[in-house]
Amino acid sequence: MDLHGKVAIVTGGKRGIGKAISKKLLKEGVKLAICSKNGEGLDLLEKELKMVTDNYPLCRIVDIRKGAAVSSFIQEVYRSFGKIDILINNAATIRTGLIEDMTEEDWELLIDTNLKGPFLTMKYVIPYMKENSSGSIVNICSGLSKTGYPNFSIHCASKFGLRGMSLAVKEELRKDNIRIMILNPSSVDTDIWNYIGGDYNRKKMVSSDEVAASVLFMLKNSTNCTIDELDIAPGKGIALR
Ligand SMILES: NC(=O)c1ccc[n+]([C@@H]2O[C@H](COP(=O)([O-])OP(=O)(O)OC[C@H]3O[C@@H](n4cnc5c(N)ncnc54)[C@H](OP(=O)(O)O)[C@@H]3O)[C@@H](O)[C@H]2O)c1
Repeated sequence: MDLHGKVAIVTGGKRGIGKAISKKLLKEGVKLAICSKNGEGLDLLEKELKMVTDNYPLCRIVDIRKGAAVSSFIQEVYRSFGKIDILINNAATIRTGLIEDMTEEDWELLIDTNLKGPFLTMKYVIPYMKENSSGSIVNICSGLSKTGYPNFSIHCASKFGLRGMSLAVKEELRKDNIRIMILNPSSVDTDIWNYIGGDYNRKKMVSSDEVAASVLFMLKNSTNCTIDELDIAPGKGIALR
C-alpha cells in the first residue's frame, strides 16, 4: 500500500517507538497527528519533525485515558485532514513489582492507559474509517501480551487485554475492509526502561527504529494480505546481562 497522502494518528508519538514511527511515516508523505500526555518537549518535536518534511504534523496534548479528550482530538484530526486512514495505538506506561506490592493506583494507571486508551481511540476513529470503507490499525502490544513475566503482572494484564481486544475487533471489521494488526515488541531501548528496575543491558535491546520499520512493513503490505500479528525481539532473547 502506498502511504503517500494517507492520514495517520500516532498516540504517544513524542518519544521512543512512537517518535520513530512518526518520523518514518512523515518521510513516506503521510499527514500526521500525534498526541502525548504532557506538553514538555512537544514544541521541540514539532520543529524536529518539520525538518523531515513540509507536512506540518498536528501535535496535541491528549490524555488517552479520557474519553472526551480523545473524542475531541479525533474530531480535530478529521476536520483538519478530511479523513483518517491509519491509527497507531502506541502510547502506554509501565509499573512493576510483586503483585502484593502493587497499588490500586498502579492498576488504574496501567489498565486505563494501556487498555482503555486504545479502546477509546478505536471507538472514535473506526466510524471515520467505516465512512471510507478502509483503514489500518496497528496496536502495539508486547511480548508480554502472550507470556507471563515476574513483576509485570498488571502490565501483562493490560497487554494481554489489548491483544484480546484486538483479535475480537479484527473479526468485527473484516467486512468493512479495516485491518487490525498486532505488533508484539520485546526489549526495546526507550525511556520506558527508566521505570523498570533490574539488570538489563539496554545496548542489546532492539532499537525504536527497528520497531518503526516493522510497523511500516505491516502498513505497506498489500491490503489484500494482512499481517495479523508480528513478534520482534532481540536476536539473543530478552536483554539480561
Ligand atoms: N520499550 C520496550 O521495551 C517495549 C517492549 C514491548 C512493548 N512496548 C510498547 O511499545 C509502546 C511504546 O513504548 P516506548 O518504550 O516507546 O514508551 P515511552 O518511551 O515511555 O513512550 C511512551 C509514550 O506514551 C505516551 N503516553 C503515556 N501515557 C499516556 C497517556 N495517558 N495519554 C497519552 N499519551 C501517553 C507518552 O507521552 P509523554 O511523552 O507525554 O509522556 C510517551 O510519548 C508501548 O505500547 C509499550 O508498551 C515497548
